[in-house]
Amino acid sequence: MTASEAKYPELAGRAAVVTGAGRGLGEAHARALVRNRVNVVAGDIDLRLVTETARRINAEEGSAASVVPARIDVASREDHDVLAELACRRFGRLDHWINNAGIFPEAGVRSITPEQFGTTFGINVNGVLFGAQAAVAAMDGSGGSLVNMASIAAFTVRRERASYGASKAAVEHLTRFLAVELGPAGIRVNAIAPGIIDTQMAAWIHESPEVFEATMETIPLRRPGTAADVADAMLFLISDAASFITGHTLVVDGGGRYC
Ligand SMILES: NC(=O)c1ccc[n+]([C@@H]2O[C@H](COP(=O)([O-])OP(=O)(O)OC[C@H]3O[C@@H](n4cnc5c(N)ncnc54)[C@H](O)[C@@H]3O)[C@@H](O)[C@H]2O)c1
Repeated sequence: MTASEAKYPELAGRAAVVTGAGRGLGEAHARALVRNRVNVVAGDIDLRLVTETARRINAEEGSAASVVPARIDVASREDHDVLAELACRRFGRLDHWINNAGIFPEAGVRSITPEQFGTTFGINVNGVLFGAQAAVAAMDGSGGSLVNMASIAAFTVRRERASYGASKAAVEHLTRFLAVELGPAGIRVNAIAPGIIDTQMAAWIHESPEVFEATMETIPLRRPGTAADVADAMLFLISDAASFITGHTLVVDGGGRYC
């Protein structure tokens, strides 16, 4: 698809921030936005990675909109303000904020350390709150919409992933508070709960053919999701087609949460 095949023409000329945009879902969000003529500030803790990703998207997706890379540690409140200011300076506006960056640490409940639990919440949960705070300050008066990346781990249980699941449950419920408090300012806030999506975070599904087959048995549609599947849901949620939807978590999992 090229920019001329934009799915949501009303998005043209808007500006967005995407965190964790160096690879995976964040890269797909940035690409989908540019294809729909939305200018993007692409933030990641790995500046080299996100600079190369932005270069690739700009080269491949034409010139109707562009991606500007920036370094952010989403656990830092101040870093979010820097990205919001960058969007306003470069693009003259800020309409959308995609709180996407996240980590997926492994540890059983007996062995999770305070440091690990704190780091997971610092990135996965504080990062969402800080992104919303920076976005709201920049959007003040003009409205906009935010999308937070939760997970089906918010309401399913996978062994050794308690800190991750608990953090994503927090993201899902925080989304409701943000929606209620920011709605009167014309700001919609929704979440996406992906199931197993074929990115580096879910590289474990390719550990062996047996692991892959067994995993697909847990997904009624019998395939992992793609990053583009999730980006499509994000585009819908920020588009005018979702103009009366806020505080909602859209599950994108091929039915996996039921298995
Ligand atoms: N892939 C899946 O199966 C899946 C399923 C459910 C939810 N999710 C969620 O979707 C989001 C993206 O997942 P992904 O699969 O693309 O992950 P990924 O690990 O492939 O990419 C994550 C990106 O975030 C960046 N990042 C990590 N810590 C950061 C920090 N402190 N500040 C800024 N950037 C940071 C990384 O450098 C990387 O570029 C995450 O929130 C994840 O929890 C993914």
